[in-house]
Amino acid sequence: MLEFSERIRRIPVYPAAGGYATDGLALLASNEAPFGPLPAVREAIDAAIGALNRYPDPSNSRLRERLSERYEVPAARIAIGNGSCDILLAAGEALLEPGAELVYAWPSFSVYPHLAAASGARAVTVPLDENECHDLPAMLREITVATRLVLVCNPNNPTSTAVPISAIAEFLAEVPPHTCVIVDEAYCEFNTLDDADTSLDLLAQHPNLILLRTFSKVYGLCGLRVGFALCGSEELPRALDQVRQPFFCNALAQAAAVEALAHQDAVEERVIRTVTERISVDERLRALGLQPAESQANFCWFHLGERDEQQVMAGLRERGVLVRGGSALGSATPALRVTYGLPEENARFLDALEQVL
Ligand SMILES: Cc1ncc(COP(=O)(O)O)c(C=O)c1O
Repeated sequence: MLEFSERIRRIPVYPAAGGYATDGLALLASNEAPFGPLPAVREAIDAAIGALNRYPDPSNSRLRERLSERYEVPAARIAIGNGSCDILLAAGEALLEPGAELVYAWPSFSVYPHLAAASGARAVTVPLDENECHDLPAMLREITVATRLVLVCNPNNPTSTAVPISAIAEFLAEVPPHTCVIVDEAYCEFNTLDDADTSLDLLAQHPNLILLRTFSKVYGLCGLRVGFALCGSEELPRALDQVRQPFFCNALAQAAAVEALAHQDAVEERVIRTVTERISVDERLRALGLQPAESQANFCWFHLGERDEQQVMAGLRERGVLVRGGSALGSATPALRVTYGLPEENARFLDALEQVL
């Protein structure tokens, strides 16, 4: 028998969605974009293929420059990752160790528990409030001299809710400077409470802040794995790079991300299409007697009352629709998280749900 490290016994297994190997399903389980890559992005990927005999640019310089122009953050304060998950895990490695504490809300993104388990730090989880939103005052009360990292997922996965950036600003004003705060903004473009650029102003005032973003959601490039962190100080990207292997972001991902950034009009159009679907799907859910949370993301979240979550999911799956069950994502009661897809996929989901209920 192999003997694995203590870490391996502690680290939870990521609750991966199934169904990827089955054709013809409406894939509404992983909060992906239903839109394929833009033609110009495909061309950029094609053009980069010829140089695959070379290692990718290890400093991701073109991508960091373009991000710097787009977000007006110096390139030296931008970290790139093999998906934003890579940056989260690197932050855990760079900041946490036994004796340190990590504070985050729960239920929230299912990768967060990994950070404490991998490092041996203590995880302090703070329940969401009655609207399934982050309870920032309660999180503030949990910060101690030992707190090295706080994670704020805004909008929150899996509950789809967001808190206003003004509330995050008030929170940050109270966080001590030795504590790093990552605001995980994977879904910020879909948030209509605030413009996606509003949080950028906070970086100038808080050297301990990281705004974590990704090309996986609105940019529709999750298959390539590329994310980025806009940081309040240069020491943060330096530490994030120190703990990772060189060449963590592949050449096609870098080329695609650079091109995708140049098409902000397409981002806006995708947001409009998603929010349009959000309004109509949530309306139909309410007509079915369900109460979806107030979504600011590209997915909805609702509780199933007394119904059996596994049975509902199986019924949807039989009808060709793949969704996520809330219990795998930290919900104490039966719930579903469903990505807004194309109009025809959403119609298939809603018709199937009506039959199953
Ligand atoms: C809140 C949140 N953060 C980060 C990620 C990671 O995205 P990626 O690693 O694809 O950038 C996800 C993906 O679902 C997410 O929901």
